[in-house]
Amino acid sequence: MKLNRKNFLKVAGFATAGMMVKPSQAGTNSPFSKNHVQKFNMHGYSAPKLDKVRVGFIGVGSRGSGTVVRLSSIEGVEIKALCDLIPDRVDSVIKLLKNEFPAQKPMSYSGSPDLWKEVCEREDIDLIYIATPWQLHAPIAIYAMEHGKHVYTELPVGVTLEECWQVVETSENTRRHCFMGCGSAHDGMAAVILNMVRQGFFGEIIHGEGHYIHDRVSDNKLRWERDKSNNNWFGYRPWRLQENVNRNGNLYPAHGLGPVSQMMDINYGDKMEYLVSISSNDFTMGHKMKEMAEIDDYYKPYVGLNLRGNINTTIIRTHKGRTIMLQHDISSPRPGHRFDLISGNKGIYRARPDRIATSEEWLPEEEFNSLKEKYTPEITKKFNEKRNQAGGSHGSRGYERVTASDWRLIDCLRNGLPLEMDVYDAALWSAITPLSEWSVARQGETVKIPDFTCGAWRTNKRGMDINIQQGGTTNLI
Ligand SMILES: NC(=O)c1ccc[n+]([C@@H]2O[C@H](COP(=O)([O-])OP(=O)(O)OC[C@H]3O[C@@H](n4cnc5c(N)ncnc54)[C@H](O)[C@@H]3O)[C@@H](O)[C@H]2O)c1
Repeated sequence: MKLNRKNFLKVAGFATAGMMVKPSQAGTNSPFSKNHVQKFNMHGYSAPKLDKVRVGFIGVGSRGSGTVVRLSSIEGVEIKALCDLIPDRVDSVIKLLKNEFPAQKPMSYSGSPDLWKEVCEREDIDLIYIATPWQLHAPIAIYAMEHGKHVYTELPVGVTLEECWQVVETSENTRRHCFMGCGSAHDGMAAVILNMVRQGFFGEIIHGEGHYIHDRVSDNKLRWERDKSNNNWFGYRPWRLQENVNRNGNLYPAHGLGPVSQMMDINYGDKMEYLVSISSNDFTMGHKMKEMAEIDDYYKPYVGLNLRGNINTTIIRTHKGRTIMLQHDISSPRPGHRFDLISGNKGIYRARPDRIATSEEWLPEEEFNSLKEKYTPEITKKFNEKRNQAGGSHGSRGYERVTASDWRLIDCLRNGLPLEMDVYDAALWSAITPLSEWSVARQGETVKIPDFTCGAWRTNKRGMDINIQQGGTTNLI
């Protein structure tokens, strides 16, 4: 059969051309739609300058204890409170501060699950940092903002759509910042690529990819052993494993999504429209639970449970017709991966190894290196300058661990500048998890992505001041 237009429609199962569905008319499910009216636009909002940024930490386990060191290495930061359910964790951070940053003398809060409220209620704290299990992030962030504090939370800011909206509403009502720390395009190669995107090297951006591929099952015998013998740091106990039971979707999208979003000006020029999400079966976690249950009773209740599939693939379409692919896999034996690819109508960047092409062939290494040098943004140069000037005279080389994203957060607070990642980014990047779970549960049905900016994305000024036109005055110490 000759495939003319009429025959094509027959083959494709369409009776008439009139029945073809345009993408914009496709039946997109909106189970999470909400009539929210923006009370105040937190994008571009400047809070009053803070000469000192006084911080209260809630959760000083694996990530939180590291953040204490990183923030202590930034000029103007005062650590006022350390709170953790487990007293040993607070004690070990106090000990570390005594040795490495003796000027920091925080108060300890530990031993009871609600003590974080007392920290949020203190009058002498400006910023609450949250690194607890995920379920506590939104309740703490909301309570902290209601008590006049800015928030720096680890990802995600909320585990349900409702929580994401509540965080947005609270930030707008209280005019307190809510910053979600994650892999942004402040750091490393992503900063260079963001600069290239903005200068038009890749032309119009068509597609981006960002993942959370981080083998936490097969890679590391040490981790499983440490989980049992030590304080369960960076392991599955006592909360990470639970997150992987009966949940199936992209559980950790923000690390890969953040840089891609920033390269596409999402929330300030474009917005996410809808997504589809599909997960594989689980091929490793179930076996691991059986294996672990033989040597450790802790894992017995997990044998035979419905565990998250190995790999989840989520595809987002934006208002401007671009696509974003995100993958999540923490249980297959493979090297790690985060921000991975950005592709435009003039070129492409791909990570691991870093490479750039403007045609079918990757550019030679020499040419790649000279582009990297040419497009290194001012923010990276300024940050490196601060690092080189840092003395570490107090006995810590913590400044080597500070990220440009941490440094810029404190710098913006001290200079009264808008934050470069705001509550709308935090809510949107977190919302991808429950939306992907919804789609996975329905064999990849399309689901509409809420616009947390309520239309302000059309007029919001671009975020991420990579030319560092304002601020940049904070030193590392
Ligand atoms: N940005 C990154 O690169 C990065 C890296 C690792 C972890 N994280 C995030 O950091 C957060 C913490 O992860 P982690 O690996 O440090 O976990 P962890 O289990 O090591 O630490 C969590 C801490 O929270 C404490 N906690 C629990 N309930 C509490 C309560 N009611 N009050 C006070 N403290 C309480 C626990 O005792 C524990 O010390 C998570 O959101 C995780 O996703 C981010």
